[in-house]
Amino acid sequence: MVKEINLSTKIAVYPLEECTETEKKLIEAAKKATEKAYAPYSGFSVGAALLLENGEIVSGNNQENAAYPSGLCAERTTVFYANANFPEEKVIAIAIAANHKGSFTEDVITPCGACRQVLLETENRFHSPMKVLMYSEKGVYVMESIRDLLPLSFGDEMLK
Ligand code: THU
Repeated sequence: MVKEINLSTKIAVYPLEECTETEKKLIEAAKKATEKAYAPYSGFSVGAALLLENGEIVSGNNQENAAYPSGLCAERTTVFYANANFPEEKVIAIAIAANHKGSFTEDVITPCGACRQVLLETENRFHSPMKVLMYSEKGVYVMESIRDLLPLSFGDEMLK
C-alpha cells in the first residue's frame, strides 16, 4: 500500500423544532409535495423543495412510469424544473421527505446516486454549496453541501 485515505463526512441531526423558520418552511414544502407524487408502482411518495436565492421555493416529486426506468426521482424532477425556469438563481438548499403507506418515513430519505450527481452539477454550476435537509419523523439530517454526500465525485473540473 502506498497510502491510506480516510474520508469523513459531517452530518448534523436536529429535531424539527430546532430548525430555522426558513428550514421548517422548506421541509414543509417537501412534505406537501409528496401529496402530488405519481408513485402508483412503489407507493413511495417523495417530495423535494428547493430554496432559490431570490427567496422563492420550488417543489416537486417522483414521477413513476409503467416502463420503470423512465420514471424520475423527486430530487431530479425538482432541480431540473428549477434550473429550467430559474437558470440564473442559485439553489441555496434542498429539503427531501418521503411518505410510505400514509406515513412519513421514520428514517431519513437520502438522495440516490444519480440524484446526487445531478445536484452536484447544480452546486458546481452556481459555484455555491447547497444545504441538504433530509427529513424523517425522528429528526432532520443536515449537510452543508452535496459534496459531502458524494465523495470522490466526478465533476466538470475533470473535463478540463
Ligand atoms: N425516489 C425518489 O424520488 N427519491 C429518492 O431519493 C429515492 C427514491 C423514488 C424513486 C421511485 O419512484 C420511488 O422513490 C421508489 O424507489
